[in-house]
Amino acid sequence: MDEITVSMTQYMKDHPELKYIFFGGKGGVGKTVMAGAAALWAAKEGRKTLLASTNPVHSLSNMLEQDVFGKPATVCDEANCYAFEIDTKDTIDRSKQEIREKINWFLKFADITTKADEFIESATMNPAFEESAMFENMTELMFKDEYDFYVFDTAPTANARRLLGMSKVYSLWVEKMLKSRTEARSLREVLSFTKKKEEDPLLDYLLGFKDRMAKAQSLLTDDRLTAFFFVTLPESLPIAVITRFINWFHDFGIPVGGVVVNGLIQKDQVGDDAVAFVRNRVRMQDEHMQEIWKIFGDRVRSIVPLFETEIKGGKMLGRLVEHLFVA
Ligand SMILES: Nc1ncnc2c1ncn2[C@@H]1O[C@H](COP(=O)(O)OP(=O)(O)O)[C@@H](O)[C@H]1O
Ligand SMILES: [Mg+2]
Repeated sequence: MDEITVSMTQYMKDHPELKYIFFGGKGGVGKTVMAGAAALWAAKEGRKTLLASTNPVHSLSNMLEQDVFGKPATVCDEANCYAFEIDTKDTIDRSKQEIREKINWFLKFADITTKADEFIESATMNPAFEESAMFENMTELMFKDEYDFYVFDTAPTANARRLLGMSKVYSLWVEKMLKSRTEARSLREVLSFTKKKEEDPLLDYLLGFKDRMAKAQSLLTDDRLTAFFFVTLPESLPIAVITRFINWFHDFGIPVGGVVVNGLIQKDQVGDDAVAFVRNRVRMQDEHMQEIWKIFGDRVRSIVPLFETEIKGGKMLGRLVEHLFVA
């Protein structure tokens, strides 16, 4: 088999309730431009669409040639088309503050005189904390439910998978924490002779957190609502990368929408008289296309040509839409 059986357009028709889509893949393969094109497509379909990025590099603003950092802005002629580059630093600062309050409360509660700062530094000075803040940003947007369609231009997929996988891990972790907090509290209530309920901000926080995680997980694992698309070039490394990711996502129960092949040189534009460099690249791509059909088969949704320039601005994105969503 070496042709598309279910195209991107067909997939969208088959999933009319689809609301959250993601693009993953190796760095530089075209995730951001595909996310941009998908958002433009959805907006043209008449849906109020948000293109969001948790990527610290300002790639959306660059692609759209418009500053969308820090708050959602309309980005195309259609009034229902928004883009938003999330300010991760701001979120991290807010999360740190929140954690500081919790830790301070706990230290006071447990009669510990150590300064909270040391705890806070060790709790927040790691990459997982940043990812977790980004994950919270993303789910916050989803829960607010102000749009009909969300396209997430995720950070490189290793993070994306961790981000999504985290909702499962978090649930387990919070479950454990909750159990021990509840036990400790009821024990104290029994011992304190009063029936008055103790205040426990830490427990309240964990309960709220657990609810959010459960909700995120149920949205993200629902294949009617969510799809993760993987972008690859016809080259060995990007193919290897998404092969691994697809397996991981499968294990996490996160719906894989399919594979987008990007950057295929149009053979009909390459004559026998083309320079050796171009002919070699075409041959290389041919071989990798065989591999792509073998590995991904009927999961291939679109094959996008290599354009003569980079993809920037509304006009180029419009052209990309036509290739990503072939009628
Ligand atoms: N089909 C294509 N033809 C020409 N340039 C492309 C194509 N797809 C992507 N690009 C360009 O390649 C670069 C990387 O794309 P980008 O979407 O930023 O990748 P990623 O988000 O995966 O890192 C950008 O400059 C983009 O404009
Ligand atoms: Mg990008």
